[in-house]
Amino acid sequence: MRVTVIGCGYVGLTTSVTLAYIGHQVHCIDQDENRIRALQKGIVPVHEKGVSELLGEVKDHLTFGDWDSFDQSVDALIIAVGTPGKKNGDADLIYVESVAQELGSRLTGDKLPVIVNKSTVPIGSARRVESVVRYCRKNTGSNAPVMVVSCPEFLREGAALHDSFYPDRIVVGSQHDYAVNILRQVYAPILEQTFNEPGFFPRPDGYTLPAFITTTPTSAELIKYAANTFLAIKISYINEIAGLAERVGADIREVARGIGLDKRIGLPYLNAGVGWGGSCFGKDISALIHIGDQYDFEMLLSSAAINVNRRQRDEIIKKLQSALKVIRGSTIGLLGLSFKPGTDDLRDAPSLTIANRLIELGAHVKAYDPVAAYRIQNNEYGSNIECASDPEMLASGADALVLVTEWSEFMQLPYEQLGKLMRQKVIIDGRNVLDSGALKDAGFVYLGVGIC
Ligand code: UGA
Repeated sequence: MRVTVIGCGYVGLTTSVTLAYIGHQVHCIDQDENRIRALQKGIVPVHEKGVSELLGEVKDHLTFGDWDSFDQSVDALIIAVGTPGKKNGDADLIYVESVAQELGSRLTGDKLPVIVNKSTVPIGSARRVESVVRYCRKNTGSNAPVMVVSCPEFLREGAALHDSFYPDRIVVGSQHDYAVNILRQVYAPILEQTFNEPGFFPRPDGYTLPAFITTTPTSAELIKYAANTFLAIKISYINEIAGLAERVGADIREVARGIGLDKRIGLPYLNAGVGWGGSCFGKDISALIHIGDQYDFEMLLSSAAINVNRRQRDEIIKKLQSALKVIRGSTIGLLGLSFKPGTDDLRDAPSLTIANRLIELGAHVKAYDPVAAYRIQNNEYGSNIECASDPEMLASGADALVLVTEWSEFMQLPYEQLGKLMRQKVIIDGRNVLDSGALKDAGFVYLGVGIC
């Protein structure tokens, strides 16, 4: 089939590469010329496992261009542009609206491709896109039906291709049988798992075929927000229990396992730590709360999840205060900047909140991150964090290290040697991934999250 994807960000690029790999002819459009030029040369502008490699493999099936390269003779047009959060929590639809206007002004004739909304958008957005496209076409004299489907994406950064090839479900919200059928055909190789597994993304053991769920557009739009909010609530819940575990003398890892093995609860997303971050959870929960406000319906649990998450970042400062007593004049080394391993994304990263708070309190903050440091060096976040080029430079003269991102290499660092470079041997394990026994034996004061 022929598919055009509009937007070459994480979601658009991953979707394009996946659809090209499973056999479709894909064209990807972006208004950012630099991004397009880079992608045409095979340079991937984001740090995402496997995308560069697969881009090379699918080059005969995947092309990139700007709006001038738009060709409507495709089966589906997938909108995958950003929907950043506004100050009031609402999702900003400026990019979605502008794509809808472009499509309305460019789509001609009586046979239109199905328009698929993959961007995370508020309730009613499929209908809104449909009406904008129809309005912009009103002078064409054509009554061809404009079909807009809501097909939310559930991929995780750092595991984006894996999640695209092996999803749990594909959700298609539409009132048009024709459109649902097109989506079923687009996703057929994934629904039936008929594609050859890419070398570095083997099919997970025990993987079962994904469900194809058809819903109304409104349900599909709500499913996306509800899924992200549920996961964030789950993490905030375990973090709240972690706070209590510390006070009563329990170990949150034992508690999480003890409750997570109950199949009704499940183990994933029960890792206590510095809390959730990233471009999606905070933005999407705020958007859900905003939708609730519009209906005068307070989203109590969703708001609580945000509050717990905020407190979780402050807890790291409290741990440092309890270990060091005085923060002013101290040097703190952050192990990790990205909001999670496997990505260079710093959006809503706990590291930045923690660093800024420490700087406010008079500390000097250094950080080492294997991939995301360039964003601080490029001054994208305007922070006074000093970037260390390796863990030794980070530890040198530090009063404490704080592990914020659980990059696998941090589990193997020579902490005993690093400790010798430090002014005080304090380590805060913000992800509960380090060997506390070995660190204590090496003379460190070790503090985890929810661990005594
Ligand atoms: C999240 C969802 O998991 C995806 O399903 C969704 O498609 C995506 O948002 C989106 O809307 O685009 P992502 O933000 O990439 O994906 O990252 P996750 O792996 O879900 O992690 C989110 C945050 O929760 C990270 O900061 C991570 O460190 C934290 N986390 C995760 C925990 O603190 N504890 C856990 O047990 C799991």
